[in-house]
This record gives sequence, C-alpha cells and structure tokens, in this order.
Amino acid sequence: MKNYHTKIISNQEISPGYFRMKVLAPDFGEKAHAGQFVMFRVQRSLPPLLRRPFGVFQTGFLPADCDGLPSKEFVEIVYKVVGSGTSIMAELHEGDKVELLGPLGNGFDTTTGPGEKILVGGGIGLVPLYMLAGELIANGCNVRLLMGGRTRDDIFAVTEFERLGVETHISTDDGSLGEEGLVTLVLERKLQKYPAAEVFSCGPMPMLSAVNDICTAHQTPLQVSLEESMACGVGACLGCVVKGAGHTEENPSYLCSCKVGPVFKSQYLDWSALKRNDDTLPGSEENCGGCS
Ligand SMILES: Cc1cc2nc3c(=O)[nH]c(=O)nc-3n(C[C@H](O)[C@H](O)[C@H](O)COP(=O)(O)OP(=O)(O)OC[C@H]3O[C@@H](n4cnc5c(N)ncnc54)[C@H](O)[C@@H]3O)c2cc1C
Ligand code: FES
Repeated sequence: MKNYHTKIISNQEISPGYFRMKVLAPDFGEKAHAGQFVMFRVQRSLPPLLRRPFGVFQTGFLPADCDGLPSKEFVEIVYKVVGSGTSIMAELHEGDKVELLGPLGNGFDTTTGPGEKILVGGGIGLVPLYMLAGELIANGCNVRLLMGGRTRDDIFAVTEFERLGVETHISTDDGSLGEEGLVTLVLERKLQKYPAAEVFSCGPMPMLSAVNDICTAHQTPLQVSLEESMACGVGACLGCVVKGAGHTEENPSYLCSCKVGPVFKSQYLDWSALKRNDDTLPGSEENCGGCS
C-alpha cells in the first residue's frame, strides 16, 4: 500500500453520470489484485475531507512521451456521481493533483482452478469484475459475465470485457438494452446449464442477497465484493464492520470490510444482518459521526 500524491491523466464521462478516470501511479500494477480498491482524496483542506473508496478497474501503461523515457503507469477507476465527493471528481481535469492510497483490502481468490466461472455485476459493481475476468482468463477459465442495470446507462465496458474473451449477457430492468428483467433470473438459467460453475459478484445489496440465495440453493461457491461505506479504508475507524456468519450477542463476530474484505466468501457472512439496513454496528457512530 502506498500514498500517491499524483495527477490525473484523463477523466471522461462514458455514460450519463458514469466517469472513467486514469491517474498516474508508478508501480501500482505489480501490487494490485482483482477486487482491491483505492481511497481517493477529492480535495485537500476543503470539504469533503474524507477519502472515498473506489474499486480498481484496471492498471496499465501509457506509451512513453519520448524515446528513452519510462512509460507512464496508471490506475483506472470508474465511478458514478452520487453525492458531494463524486460531483467534485466529475469536475476534475487532466493534470489536476489528487491523492490516492492503495491498493487496499483483499481481492478475489482466483486460485480455485480452471473451469466455468460466472461473474454477476450490477451497475457500478461491474468495476472490480474487469480485472477479475482478466485474471481468470489468464488461468484458463471459461468466463461468462452477466451484466445488470436499471437502464442502458448503467452498462459499460462491454466491448472491453468481450476483447478479453468473456461471454457477456446484458439485462436491464426496463429492457432498454439486452434482455428485460433482473440479472438474477439469468443467473438461475446459467447455473442450470453450468452446475459446476463458481460465481463471483459485486453490486447493490438486494442483488447480492438474491445472488447468495440462488447460489446457496444450488450449492454453488460464491465470492462477493461488498461496498460498505468506508471512512479510513485501513482498519482504523471500524466504520465498515459487517457481521460474520454465526454472529450472536454472546459470541460476536465482526469483520472489517476494508481489511478482511471487501471480497468475502459468502459462507463467512451473516446475510440476514447484511440485509437489514437499520443495523447498528460498533464504532460507526463514535468514529464516523460528522464525517463529510
Ligand atoms: C470497496 C468499495 C469499492 C467501491 N467501488 C466503487 C466504484 O468502483 N465506483 C463507484 O462509483 N463507487 C464505488 N464505491 C462507492 C463509492 O465509494 C461511493 O459512491 C462514494 O464514496 C460516494 O461519495 P460521494 O461523496 O459522492 O457521496 P456521499 O455524499 O458520501 O453520499 C451520497 C449518497 O451515496 C450513498 N453512498 C455513499 N457511499 C456508498 C456506498 N459505499 N454504497 C452505497 N451507497 C453509498 C450515501 O448513502 C448517499 O445516499 C465503492 C465503495 C466501496 C466501499
Ligand atoms: S473503513 Fe475504517 S476500519 Fe474500515
């Protein structure tokens, strides 16, 4: 993990409300794995003070400016504008200074061997699946990606996934792109066709919860990337803890999403607690009250 005081290479809107940002980050790629994230400081001294977490979409190198000079290494994130921090990010330009901490957290376990792998991404949850797809394909796996969104605006990078060799399937709630309906219906069908598949998923909690129910019913191994709100990203504030499987008041089990996760094997999580959004977790009020 490294704190980069660095510069933006590009920041472009790719779909209404969705942006791709490339940031200079020497040596980032050799340390980063699929499913890890960065904490991005949008502006120093002025609100919002906190860093914001974003999944790593990809790392790579830009061509060198002149012969003999090293090529520029970048990390790319894709973000959706939802509030104050991401609105400021959307106004940034090439050359603007930013701060980036990463790579952070534990990513997907891609060492589970070759075979059928089904990736299920909802909206911005598609982000960590791009690097994952690349790693799985390099390991000789067959990768099928189920992309879900409310509308066509929530679907991005289809061609890039396909160029990796991924079979893509798009579904939208309103039918504006691909099949009309929930991505989880497609998952049901695919698991009937590929019963030995392993599933990897990232997206909004209702979708993740439905994916978990389906995989449990099919006895399918599942890894999920959670997008719990985070304040520090490094295990210091306890603002991101989730309850582990088997948690009780007598035998509490709390998992720090930024340190142990954000990717978890589904059997290690308490899904009934995750579904309750009125859950009060230790430390969250004390440490994160007043965060902006
Ligand atoms: C590990 C991790 C990876 C993430 N990866 C991405 C990514 O690749 N691309 C991306 O666009 N976003 C990602 N997010 C979510 C992103 O961090 C938030 O959207 C961002 O912090 C919002 O900042 P803001 O200041 O614009 O919004 P705020 O003003 O802080 O909040 C605006 C609204 O968004 C809601 N919100 C804030 N954070 C989250 C969250 N984590 N989940 C659901 N709702 C939230 C708030 O409750 C509020 O309603 C990730 C989050 C985590 C924890
Ligand atoms: S975000 Fe602070 S401990 Fe995880």
